[in-house]
Amino acid sequence: MVLRYTAPKGTRDVLPSEAEIWQQLEGLFHSLAELYGYREIRTPIFERTELFLRGLGEVTDIVQKEMFTFTDRGGRSLTLRPELPAGTVRAFLEHNLAEEGPVCKFRYFGPAFRQERPQAGRYQQFTQYGVECFGSRDPASDAEVIDLAMAFLERAGLAAVELRLNSIGCPICRPAYRSRLLAYLTARVGELCPLCRERMEKNPLRILDCKSPSCRAVVAAAPLTVEHLCPACAEHFAAVKDYLTSLGRSFILAPHLVRGLDYYTNTVFEVVAPGLGAQDAVIGGGRYDGLIETCGGPPTPGVGFAGGLERLLLALAAAGAGPREKRVPLVFLAPLGAAPKELAVRLAHEMRTTGLRVDLDYRSRSLKAQLREADRQGARVVVILGEDELARGKAALKWLDGGGQEEIDLSVLVAYLREKTCSE
Ligand code: HAM
Repeated sequence: MVLRYTAPKGTRDVLPSEAEIWQQLEGLFHSLAELYGYREIRTPIFERTELFLRGLGEVTDIVQKEMFTFTDRGGRSLTLRPELPAGTVRAFLEHNLAEEGPVCKFRYFGPAFRQERPQAGRYQQFTQYGVECFGSRDPASDAEVIDLAMAFLERAGLAAVELRLNSIGCPICRPAYRSRLLAYLTARVGELCPLCRERMEKNPLRILDCKSPSCRAVVAAAPLTVEHLCPACAEHFAAVKDYLTSLGRSFILAPHLVRGLDYYTNTVFEVVAPGLGAQDAVIGGGRYDGLIETCGGPPTPGVGFAGGLERLLLALAAAGAGPREKRVPLVFLAPLGAAPKELAVRLAHEMRTTGLRVDLDYRSRSLKAQLREADRQGARVVVILGEDELARGKAALKWLDGGGQEEIDLSVLVAYLREKTCSE
């Protein structure tokens, strides 16, 4: 029996019909982030496991259940990156990039891997685009990062999104809050879902954004992080909100938003889009003033976000929006006979070197069949090369967009096609 291979579960192929939209969104993200001063960094897709254990926090769902971890032949434990900030921090420290300036701003775009149960909008390999700003504690940096996230979604064509914002405090105010929360939850532990009962000991804050109805009912009356911020954290949060307001970015206060990674301090945010079901977060991010130190660096504040490209595409499709295909017009060469075919092969080469998009059918078929093929490929113009035309040093052009037919001297053909198709 012949095996029919399929892509591993939780992964997806980007087919040629989708690739252009991907390229457009990737290009848009890079050019916009560049305007905001975020320079591109590309780090390996795997790192030493230790980096993620320390960076993301050993009690997070990602570290406990979702990492693709393997041992190399030298017995070292490696992990496919479940997100990109940890690797960015590692590279920042390894290459002493702090020497380049007090504030270093990075952007990235690439695959991430999590062993989550696949469902709509949730994959085991997905693509994250994002930015990280290291070295600034200023609330204006939080607002800048959020403004960039929103500007990107807007420019991508996703208008109806909701920005949810919260502050979860710092190592000074959080312990007291944690104790109060624990005391509250302990009294109602019987009503929590089994997972949250496990979380009680190690990560009670995470219970705040559990989706199970019984936990939601419990946390509805739970003490909130924003009500227990120390004066510095309260001031920081107020300033982030003021900056966002002055940038015209509306937000919804989400006092139960804590996010799934341990490294966050102060600002946390998520952008959700309609029509995505349970996996509705298209972007998530926040401030992480302790992460760089946890990863072995000097105390350095940081703030950033990441979004999933696959989810953005789903959200755009649900909204009937998104960038349009913008392909360079196609010139199709249709040679009729052996000598014209030889010329066509050379012409195609020459035309492509001048930037024209050119294709031809090597199967030496009838004019009718070649015209059908040109039409199927959406060609703008067909260059018909027959023995007769060649003998007169001419080519016949048939414009498939209704522009009729004409004869052109072969000597000016390339320049003429460039002028007609590349000026759009
Ligand atoms: P996150 O919320 O885990 O945060 O992921 C960010 C975004 O990546 C999500 O909002 C979602 O769009 C996408 N995403 C996450 N998991 C999946 C999945 N299994 N399948 C498809 N898309 C997914 C982080 O990763 C943080 N590192 C964000 C950050 C950067 N915070 C500061 N800097």
